[in-house]
Amino acid sequence: MTLLTLRKIDTFYGPVQVHFGLDIEVRQGQIVCLLGGNASGKSTTMKIILGLLRPRAGTVRFDGHDLTAMTTPKIIRAGIGSVPEARRLFGAMTVRENLLMGAFARSDRVEIAHDLDRMLELFPRVRQRLASRAGTLSGGEQQMVAMARALMGRPKLICMDEPTMGLSPLFVDRVLELIQTVNRDGVTIFMVEQNASLALAIAHYAYVLQTGRIILHGEAASLAHDPRIRDAYLGGKT
Ligand SMILES: Nc1ncnc2c1ncn2[C@@H]1O[C@H](COP(=O)(O)OP(=O)(O)OP(=O)(O)O)[C@@H](O)[C@H]1O
Ligand SMILES: [Mg+2]
Repeated sequence: MTLLTLRKIDTFYGPVQVHFGLDIEVRQGQIVCLLGGNASGKSTTMKIILGLLRPRAGTVRFDGHDLTAMTTPKIIRAGIGSVPEARRLFGAMTVRENLLMGAFARSDRVEIAHDLDRMLELFPRVRQRLASRAGTLSGGEQQMVAMARALMGRPKLICMDEPTMGLSPLFVDRVLELIQTVNRDGVTIFMVEQNASLALAIAHYAYVLQTGRIILHGEAASLAHDPRIRDAYLGGKT
């Protein structure tokens, strides 16, 4: 079953067009990654899904909802969690407060407390830092808090923008493992990555974006061996 569908999306920043007829499908239960070089329009795709930016043309459908007609809080209530670029935690708030912010749309107090416990089991490192201000954590720790915060909303789908960006190799591996664990628990993942080999190692399906157009898509296992993947990155960050 397809959980998320972007159909013929055109996006502009003022007069500048950044998406040209974007078609993306995310199947329920999968890890789908969006690859692409610098400034290809990856983060803008996340903004479109979350309703932070409206496409000039095209539709976004998620789990029976037309997202193009919904506000961001409604989109989150519909079941989409976000782990934005550079984590964007509330730095002056404690880790615990950040996690509870992830449940802002929920009112089931007992279940929220239960989910918080479950997050601390999944992310033991986060438990140790529960009372610390989020801004004092390392990049890897902040990434885990951002993932746990998104999960506190009990999303069906989590959108992650460059989850491994700027992390030490140890944390990169840990974060990728956690993405797989969360996915095995039933959460569908749509992630943006610059590092194609890392992303393809854990994804089921992948799309390659080049200056606002999908130039290639397919099963991650077959794309991992595709020379066009390398070509798509020429001119991008390595
Ligand atoms: N708020 C904005 N106003 C105007 N132009 C923008 C804005 N945000 C992004 N852009 C431009 O839109 C294009 C796509 O940007 P986007 O952030 O989606 O790319 P990206 O693929 O995420 O790049 P990166 O790899 O650097 O994260 C770029 O040319 C960028 O300069
Ligand atoms: Mg980006």
